Order: sequence, then C-alpha cells, then structure tokens
Amino acid sequence: LAHSYACLKMRSILLFVVILPFIHCSCPEGYELVRDGECRGFASKIASTYADVYDRTAEKCAEVQGQPIIIHSEEQQQYWLKKREAYTSAYMVLGMRCNTTTKHAEWMDGSPVDYIPKDGGVDDMTYCYDDCSWYLWHDGHYHSLCSQIDVSADAFCTVQLQQPVASGDGCDGFGDDADDRMCYQVGTIAENWQDAQKTCKFFGGDLASVHNDKENSFIRRMAVSRGQMNGVFLGGIRFGDESDFGWVDSTTWNYANFKLGYPETGKGSCLSLDTSNTAGEWVNSECGSSHAAACVRNPKNHACPGGPWKEGQYITSPGFPFDASFPCDFQFTVAFGKRVEVEVIFLEANSCCDQLVIYDSFNGGNIVANVTGEIQNKVYKTRSSNTMKVSWMPDGGVNVRGMMITYHAV
Ligand SMILES: *[C@@H]1O[C@H](CO)[C@@H](O)[C@H](O)[C@H]1NC(C)=O
Ligand SMILES: *[C@@H]1O[C@H](CO)[C@@H](O)[C@H](O)[C@H]1NC(C)=O
Repeated sequence: LAHSYACLKMRSILLFVVILPFIHCSCPEGYELVRDGECRGFASKIASTYADVYDRTAEKCAEVQGQPIIIHSEEQQQYWLKKREAYTSAYMVLGMRCNTTTKHAEWMDGSPVDYIPKDGGVDDMTYCYDDCSWYLWHDGHYHSLCSQIDVSADAFCTVQLQQPVASGDGCDGFGDDADDRMCYQVGTIAENWQDAQKTCKFFGGDLASVHNDKENSFIRRMAVSRGQMNGVFLGGIRFGDESDFGWVDSTTWNYANFKLGYPETGKGSCLSLDTSNTAGEWVNSECGSSHAAACVRNPKNHACPGGPWKEGQYITSPGFPFDASFPCDFQFTVAFGKRVEVEVIFLEANSCCDQLVIYDSFNGGNIVANVTGEIQNKVYKTRSSNTMKVSWMPDGGVNVRGMMITYHAV
C-alpha cells in the first residue's frame, strides 16, 4: 500500500505468524469506519474554481486511494448532510461529473445517479456542461455551479478497506495439505502440551492428529518453515504406562511413526514430532516440556472458543482476520481484590452495525464501554469487579477484520 499512517504502536506479539501481517491501520487518520468497510472523512479545503474543484477533489482523494462522495442511498445522503452541518461547509464537493458523450450527470466511478434527493433533486441531471461541479446543498439537493469563479470548497473522501483474501479452501490462515480437506498450522512459541492444545482451540482446532505419511511430512515441512527445529507437539496422548495412545481430536489411531525404541514405557505421555530430519519421527515427551503446537482444524470452523483465557494472551474474534461475522463472549477473571483491565489492541468494526461491549463482571453488570469503528491500543477497566465480560457483537461484520484484545489484573 502506498499510504502509511501513524497508528499502531506495534509490540512484539508472539503469536501465529499468519495473523501478524493483518494487524495494521486501515482508515486514513481522522476518517470514520462507517459501513461495509467504508471509511469516510474530511480530506482538505480546496481553493479552486467552480469548474476545477471536482478534479482537485478527485486528486486529493486519490492520495489516500479514495474517491469523492458518491451517494446511492438515504443512509449516505443523511450521513453527508449531517457532516456538512458539522463543518458548516457551504461547498461540499460531490463525486459527480458530466459525461461528455451523453451529457448526463453521473458518479465518477461510472455508476448512475440512482438516488434522487427528495427535495430539489439533482441539477443538470439530463443535460450538463463540462465545466461544472456538483455540491451537496444544505437542503439536500445536488447543486451545480459552473465556470471560472473562485471557490473555497471542502473535499471529503471515502476509502474502501481491502480485506485479506481468504484462501478459498476454508483454511483461512492455516495451511491446506491439499489431500484430506484438513487445515494445519504450527505455532511460533514453545509451550507445554496443555497450553499448546489451548492455542489450537483458540484457532478453532486441536493439536494435530496424523493419519498417514503425507500428513506427517506436511506438518514437518510446515514446522521447519516456521523455524521450529526442536520438534512440535502433536495431539497424541498416552493412557496409562503402555504404548496405548489416542488423539485429542477423537479421530481413530490408525497410523504411527515412532522412532526406534519409542514409545518408552513409563516416560512422557505426550506425543511430539522430531522436526530435525526428514523422517519426521515421533517420540513420547514429557507433557510439561516445551514445543510449538502443531494444530489441525476443519475448514471454516470459526466457532466461538470457550476459554479460559490467560492474562496477557492475545484473543481475537472468531475467524479473525478473514471473517468478522461470528459473535462471541469472552469472560476474564483475575485475583480477588484486583480489577480487570482489557486492552483493545485492534478493533475494526463498522460503526453502523458492529459493537464491542465491555461489562463490569460476568452477569449483566454495568457497561464499562460500548465501542465500535477503529480502535488501537486502548484500555478499559472494571470499576471494582475482578471479573469482566467482553461481547463481540457484529451485525454482519461486512468487510472488516474484527478485534484483537488482551487483559491483565490491575
Ligand atoms: C459516458 O457514458 C457512456 C455511456 O453510458 C459510457 O460508455 C462512457 O464510458 C462514459 N464516459 C465517461 C468519460 O465516463
Ligand atoms: C451499544 O451502542 C449501540 C449504538 O449506540 C446500541 O445500539 C446498543 O444497544 C448498545 N449496546 C448495549 C448493550 O448497550
């Protein structure tokens, strides 16, 4: 992207590498994220002439990869009229131009003038001149002014957010082994088996079960590409002392690739895959030892994960950053006598429709905050409670990424 806006104070987030590229600013500074991933805002004053103001406005908006105001609905009309009042803006430039061939007014993206303001309508709609520009007038009608008379106008623009494109196979940020319609991912940090399983759960999956050589090699290669040369945890766990293993995702135990001499009886009960050579052999490790998680999940599984959540853990809305349409409640508890402080690291929600509501305590406590739009690195605290509920309540979540939060005791 050509533009870079001062925004996120990025810290080192130890998280799945797949998510990091998607945590960045979206709307230009000072713009409001309103609906369907459309940012709207004031660009600048323009000193020009009636004839040229449209081109100058289009240039200004192009600087942020946006375009001047285009109106196709009552919602947009009312939004801009309100904005116009707030700016006491006499000359609010519209993205309307005269089609030199048909001599009809049209929007700059070529779309027809299909919304007609109730009062006054649109000037020169069916016969227009080349040296005119249109303005949103105080009474709502689209007023055209022409010729070389000087004008000081207000350029407002809209910018459409570009969403990360999901992979199409439903794996969305996970890798597809192109074999059995399952999706895999390997974590970036070493953690014990239980935490590794929680990491996978967080992404709607489980620690990986392995059912053939192909899957085994796929996971090993993925681990290597993530820099995990010291092995990864698989979803295998042993019952009792013998070589009686099962998969945490409840799939059938129908394949094994143990290193010679393993599993060692009486030793560790958790299964890890040796990534240091191409054989990708398994050993039984202590469950408290540290390896990165190798996770598996079904395509399109964006279930709301139940927690519990650890302090400092990075928590995202289900499907983040590809799909923000799944609602989810998150409950946090800290030590008795302490308060909960949640940090909204990243929120991208349509202010028309999607809400993030933060409650003092779990059950119907006071609302600490009810926020939407774009937020980065902002903290909210409970008043006295050591519990907090955070509800992600999208109404559509159209063309936005959703949220990432974390919490601490204070
Ligand atoms: C004018 O309108 C015609 C017919 O709708 C269209 O094909 C053409 O692209 C328009 N011209 C410009 C400059 O947009
Ligand atoms: C949060 O704010 C929105 C918009 O103002 C409102 O519609 C919604 O009811 C509020 N939610 C709660 C739980 O108060």
